[in-house]
Amino acid sequence: MHLSTVNHRIPLSDGNSIPIIGLGTYSEPISTPKATCATSVKIAIDTGYRHIDGAYIYQNEHEVGEAIREKIAQGKVRREDIFYCGKLWATHLDPERVRPALEKTLKNLQLDYVDLYIIEIPMAFKPGDDVYPRDENGKWLYHKSDLCATWEALEACKDAGLVKSLGVSNFNHRQLELILDKPGLKYKPVSNQVECHPYFTQPKLLKFCQKHDIVIVAYSPLGTCRDPSWVNVSVPPLLKDPFLNTLGKKYNKTVAQIVLRFNIQRGVVVIPKSFNPERIKENFQIFDFSFTEEEMKDIEALNKNIRYVELLM
Ligand code: A2P
Repeated sequence: MHLSTVNHRIPLSDGNSIPIIGLGTYSEPISTPKATCATSVKIAIDTGYRHIDGAYIYQNEHEVGEAIREKIAQGKVRREDIFYCGKLWATHLDPERVRPALEKTLKNLQLDYVDLYIIEIPMAFKPGDDVYPRDENGKWLYHKSDLCATWEALEACKDAGLVKSLGVSNFNHRQLELILDKPGLKYKPVSNQVECHPYFTQPKLLKFCQKHDIVIVAYSPLGTCRDPSWVNVSVPPLLKDPFLNTLGKKYNKTVAQIVLRFNIQRGVVVIPKSFNPERIKENFQIFDFSFTEEEMKDIEALNKNIRYVELLM
């Protein structure tokens, strides 16, 4: 399939499609100046991005929605050109909380539907307004989850027209099988968003997902911002890798462009986060070069099977 800056959607198993690159929007809420997210989304849309990855938990969905609506009002894009992915947080997995959570996201965005809605993590926290519930000793307050019941509530949201496609995130193959083998399954998950880059290439999960027509969406495709409060910084910085730098010199591309190209060339969607105008533009310039099969294998061989994002919850 020939991918270009203007045409880079790939098919989803439910008949919809997803742009192979999206803008990631997670940034530490307290230290990020107001409007930075909105400005970045507007720059991204002007650059040619048509896919924005967000979440209720990021606390900036209202800015994402404002930016998308402004670009629609300006006539720069139509709603159907934009692909927004939202996420169901772990305090909302009880079936009766699913639709209200999605409705809250739609209210934040001031949009009528999201294109993709995914279970953010295959575990539940104690339901309630506290999104990171802990007891008086600082221990996480978990909650029993029934992922199949959550999934059925999501299917009802799709039937109600609130979401076009349903997916998951941080699921391993057993958790995916739980949904795929659910009696009476109406809609299969179309995607699984997981950490994925040359140091964590996900060979087994990728194979499993390809077999089941599930698209992998790579989060932290650049190796994260290396914030030690949530990143395993003992893994060396991806963008400093000597071999990837050599490839960058060969193709006259930055290492960020090299690692993003690697994933899209094997059909993996990438959602690099940047709130820097130059880097937002840089990350999109990945459609004008390609690796040889041997180079793809050489990049795959960099896999260390170590995550930056350990999700220690
Ligand atoms: P910034 O927002 O200042 O551009 P990931 O998507 O893997 O989580 O990586 C996000 C981190 O990488 C952010 O800290 C982001 O910072 C930085 N980043 C984004 N694009 C680039 C790039 N092209 N080169 C270097 N760093 C980048």
